[in-house]
Amino acid sequence: MDWAITGGQVLHAEGLKPGTLALSDGRIGAAPAQGARRLDATGLLVLPGIVDIHGDAHERQMQPRPGVDFPPEVAMRDSAAQLLAAGVTTAFLGVTLSWEPGLRGIEAWRATLAAVEAMRAAAGVDLRIHCRFEADNLDALEEVLADIAAGRVQLLAYNDHTPAIVKRIADPAQAAKYAARAGLPPAEFVALAQRAWSRRPEVPEARARLADAARRAGIPMLSHDDATPEMRRDFRALGAAICEFPMSEAVAEAARAAGEHVVMGAPNVVRGGSHMGWSAAAPLAERGLVTVLASDYVWPALLQAAFMMEGRGVLDLPRAWALVSANPAEAAGLADRGRIAPGLRGDIVLVDPARRAPVATFAAGRLAWLSPDGAARLH
Ligand SMILES: [Fe+2]
Repeated sequence: MDWAITGGQVLHAEGLKPGTLALSDGRIGAAPAQGARRLDATGLLVLPGIVDIHGDAHERQMQPRPGVDFPPEVAMRDSAAQLLAAGVTTAFLGVTLSWEPGLRGIEAWRATLAAVEAMRAAAGVDLRIHCRFEADNLDALEEVLADIAAGRVQLLAYNDHTPAIVKRIADPAQAAKYAARAGLPPAEFVALAQRAWSRRPEVPEARARLADAARRAGIPMLSHDDATPEMRRDFRALGAAICEFPMSEAVAEAARAAGEHVVMGAPNVVRGGSHMGWSAAAPLAERGLVTVLASDYVWPALLQAAFMMEGRGVLDLPRAWALVSANPAEAAGLADRGRIAPGLRGDIVLVDPARRAPVATFAAGRLAWLSPDGAARLH
């Protein structure tokens, strides 16, 4: 079905302009097609659909209570509905592949990939897999290399949380906490961590193999939690050109100086600071040191963060919205979306600026989600 979205303020590269947006054959058209269905967007903003480069909020549907699993296909259907209602049209689900059993272990990895693949065609939102490979998970290396080669992974991040875990579990209280998360007795968890850690010398070669597989598959790579510009440089040498959650301004500056995208969390902007006690993302984005906001763990944070950035008075709406659309699309190598221009994917979100709330979401030219307000606007 073709669409004419009329009467709204449409976000183009130059800014907001009143006009009609046409969607035809899944793409943004130059003019409405004959017989196109009309949606009256008077008073609404017509924006490119949100591209989320990393979010793990699907985990809450997979495991609604700690240690309580829910059928992955149900969890994924619910996640897709939540994404569309948050204005997200491309979602890279951050799936951690760790040596820790449970939600971030190999079984959950397999179940998540299978669930996404089973519903991808019907999801509306373009669901993609962002593998967050935990450095010391060498037991899973061959499997993830095969998954990358088979085209089952669309982004690859280098996570490295084991050194901190090994340090913390020397304290029995901390060991008990980690063990509970993994559903293991504390002594068993400690033994597992130590076994993973004992293979640390093999990590550099594993990283080189992962990078080689990602390059062959043509998927972008991210480094995670870079503590120093030297770490950023080492990951750059591997081909990881996206810097995610830099741990200091110096790291972000080094990445930007090299023309790389820098990712921080949209919840950080919404909440006015990091839940991990790190830098506030908003002022860094205003200085151009952060170029992408990711949902991290809350999908609706993306839209809210973009409007909060605009509300702070430094970035205008086109620049604030680029943090959640054009920039993540570019970072992820998706040239066909993130902006409004003829020929690009028909990924559009209509937003009521007064309520900062989505009203309708179009994905690949199809009406994929509609609020009650939006339903009253159909003609
Ligand atoms: Fe981290």
